[in-house]
Amino acid sequence: MKTIQYTFIGPIRQAITMANLPLKGALRDEDLEIIQEAGILLKNDKIHQIGSYWDIFPEAQSIGAEMVNLKTDFVAMPGIVDCHTHICFAGSRAQDYAMRNAGKSYLEIAKSGGGIWESVTQTRKASLEKLAQLTAQRANRHLKDGITTIEVKSGYGLSVEEELKMLRAIQLAGESTEGDLIATCLAAHIRPRDFEGNQREYLKKISDELFPILKSENLTNRVDAFIEDTAFSAEDIQNYFEKAKALGFDIVVHADQFHVGGSQVAMDFGAMSADHLEASTEKEIATLANSDTIPVALPGASLGLGVGFTPARKLLDAGASLAIGSDWNPGSAPMGDLLMQASVLGTFQKLSNLEVLAGITFRAAAALGLTDRGSLSSGQLADIILFPTADYREITYQQGRLKPSMVWKRGERV
Ligand code: NIG
Ligand code: FE
Repeated sequence: MKTIQYTFIGPIRQAITMANLPLKGALRDEDLEIIQEAGILLKNDKIHQIGSYWDIFPEAQSIGAEMVNLKTDFVAMPGIVDCHTHICFAGSRAQDYAMRNAGKSYLEIAKSGGGIWESVTQTRKASLEKLAQLTAQRANRHLKDGITTIEVKSGYGLSVEEELKMLRAIQLAGESTEGDLIATCLAAHIRPRDFEGNQREYLKKISDELFPILKSENLTNRVDAFIEDTAFSAEDIQNYFEKAKALGFDIVVHADQFHVGGSQVAMDFGAMSADHLEASTEKEIATLANSDTIPVALPGASLGLGVGFTPARKLLDAGASLAIGSDWNPGSAPMGDLLMQASVLGTFQKLSNLEVLAGITFRAAAALGLTDRGSLSSGQLADIILFPTADYREITYQQGRLKPSMVWKRGERV
């Protein structure tokens, strides 16, 4: 018989629950539920009760909960969700970064054979075990920063075997980190330069040969594609996404990063999320707002490339949802500091504290199709982070400098 373990945390100066908030549209800080002098009672991996510390205290005591007594001020919030990363890679693209700062654009570097292809070359050289180790290391760095759920894409393998190696490495990495890793197949990142055939022939091979193995080995239920001049066109991707959908995969799109077009593909296929959107205009914004697809801003890519941010303010005002991911990858977004990036996006796009925090909690969870995390309420996973401050607004105000000093993942202290 499994023993039941109770843990009681508190008193917490402010618990920001992120509960009972709409998935779409602008949010005002006044709408945030803040429990003052809060207590959180955990039952195994879930939140059993959250409320006033002194209201819950007697029950916690009578059931013999392990007491985590807080003697100084803390703000509790749900574990952060990073819904878009490429942390499974080997090597570095410091060379690209220097070239970009010397005047070459990301797309120019890609066209001349560098960029993503450079990371493919380096990642193919790494063993599955090495890749798993690198991925787990990065995931653990994220976990220390309070990011308890991390999406991880393949896409630097770009052949059936090498994509399998990446996705198996992500699965293996999941065993060496307490964070939850959510894998996504991004075999449609670019057409590999060593493939003899055009984009559609490449995609056909991947969907014919790789998709069935992803299912049988349970490696992922998410399929992503990069729709861009240097990658795949809306036409190229039709059959690929149709097959993915028929097999029951969730669809995700790297959309409107440099040119528009991808967000329409996301709409057409009922994608879970449309990510990037730096180039989206009023038209794309209006269409996204009218859909169930979650727009994902990736400020780390804007900072890495030195380009403008996703029009987050306009998206929210039009009634769209907004998740914020790090896009942590060796090329466009090497920094990998989600809280810093989300805070800076808030500064430039004039987002409320609540809009920023929603973007990295329940709205990011929704982008991954997860409803069991992203808020502090009974029944949710006990993914909880505590910042050493008395005022939740310090979290974005300090633009990522304030780090959580305690992290619980599925009820276990990390
Ligand atoms: O989300 N845009 C395409 N893919 C990644 C970058 C990958 C890379 O440059 O290695 C992105 O920015
Ligand atoms: Fe990306």
